[in-house]
Amino acid sequence: MIIGSISENKDIEKRVSITPDIIKKYISLGFKVFIEKDYGIHLGFSNDIYIKEGCEIESRDNILKNSDIILQLNLPNEKNLQTINENKLLIGIFDAYKNKEKLVNLSNKKINIFSLELLPRITRAQSMDILSSQANLAGYKAVIESFACFTKAIPMMMTAAGTIPAAKVLVVGAGVAGLQAIATAKRMGAIVFATDVRIASKEQVESLGGKFLTVEGSENLETKAGYAKEASEDFKKKQELLLAETLKKIDIVICTALIPGKKAPLIIKEEMIKSMQPGSVIYDLAASQGGNSAYTKADEIVDISGVKVLGESNILNKLPTSASALYAKNLYNFVLNLYDKKNNKINVNLEDEIINNTIVK
Ligand code: NAI
Repeated sequence: MIIGSISENKDIEKRVSITPDIIKKYISLGFKVFIEKDYGIHLGFSNDIYIKEGCEIESRDNILKNSDIILQLNLPNEKNLQTINENKLLIGIFDAYKNKEKLVNLSNKKINIFSLELLPRITRAQSMDILSSQANLAGYKAVIESFACFTKAIPMMMTAAGTIPAAKVLVVGAGVAGLQAIATAKRMGAIVFATDVRIASKEQVESLGGKFLTVEGSENLETKAGYAKEASEDFKKKQELLLAETLKKIDIVICTALIPGKKAPLIIKEEMIKSMQPGSVIYDLAASQGGNSAYTKADEIVDISGVKVLGESNILNKLPTSASALYAKNLYNFVLNLYDKKNNKINVNLEDEIINNTIVK
C-alpha cells in the first residue's frame, strides 16, 4: 500500500503533511511513501533527507493515481482531484462546512474524503486533533507578532531612569489558541485579562495567571461538545459594555473567538477601537473567518487613529516547521486508526466515532 502527498501551493501554504521523521513509522506499518520532488525543500527538508528515510520521489500524476491514501493540508485543485482514482482516501483540512457541496460531489465519485477539522473532541482523538495542535501554535505566534508590532516594552521595568509599566493584554476567546496566548503573554511579563462565553474557561484562565472578565448575569454558552454557541443579543450587549470599558486600558488584544461552521462573531466594534490608546495593537486570529474586530483585513495592517489591527489568513505559515511536525504526527495517528494491521488493509469502519465524524458524506 502507498501513502502519498503532493506539494501544496507554496504561496499560500508552507506546511507539509509528511515530514522526514514520520516516514519510518509509515514504512514500519507496511506502507511505501511517495512525495513530489522538492516537496519540503522550503523547510530545509531536501529530497535527499526524504530519500534517506525511505521515501520515494514520484511525479504528481503517479502519486495521485497510485496512492491508497493521499495526505494534504488544503484541498487539491480540480485537475489534481480528477486524477485521483476511485476507492482512494484523501485526508486533510478541507473546510467541510464551507466546501460541503464540492466535497460531497467528490465523495459521490467514491473517493473517501476525511476533513480533520471535524474530529470529535474525545480523549481517543487527542493525538489526531489538528485543531488543537495548530491552534496552540497560532495562539503563541499571535502574541509574538503583536508584541513585535508594539512600540513599548512588555514586562514592567524599574530602572534608574524611571519605571516602564507592564503591558496589559486582553485575550478574547479562551479556547486552545487563547489559553496558549495567555500563557505566552504571561511568560513575557504582561498583565493578562481574558473573556469567553464558556464559563468553564474561567478556571483555565485563572490557572494560567490570567484575570477572567465575566459577562455578568449571562448564561453559559457551551454546547455538549465543548464548543461555543452563538451569543444572544442580550449577551452581546452585556459583553459590549464590559469590553468597551476594559479596552480603554488595554495595550494589546488577541482575538481568537470562533463558532464552528459560522462566521467569526464580531466582538470588537468600531467605537471600541477608536476609544483605545494610540499605539495599541489588535491581533485577530479569527481574520480568515471574517474577524472578531470591525477593522480586520486579512494580511494587512490597518491603522485606526494609531491603533494597529493585524490578522493573517494563515499564521501557521510563520512557523511552518513546527506546525508541520505536529500536523504530520496527527495525520499518522489518524491513519493508524484507519489501518487494520492484521489484514494489511484500510478499514473505513463507520461505527468508529472518529471515522464517522470526519468522513464527508
Ligand atoms: P474554537 O476555536 O471553536 O473557539 C475559540 C474560543 O472562542 C472558544 O473558547 C469559544 O468558547 C470562544 N468564543 C466563541 N464565541 C465567543 C464570544 N462571542 N466571546 C468570547 N469568546 C467566544 O474553540 P477551541 O479552541 O477549538 O476549543 C473548544 C473547546 O474544545 C474548548 O472547551 C476546549 O477545551 C475543548 N477541547 C477539548 C479537547 C478534548 O480532547 N477533550 C481537545 C481540544 C479542545
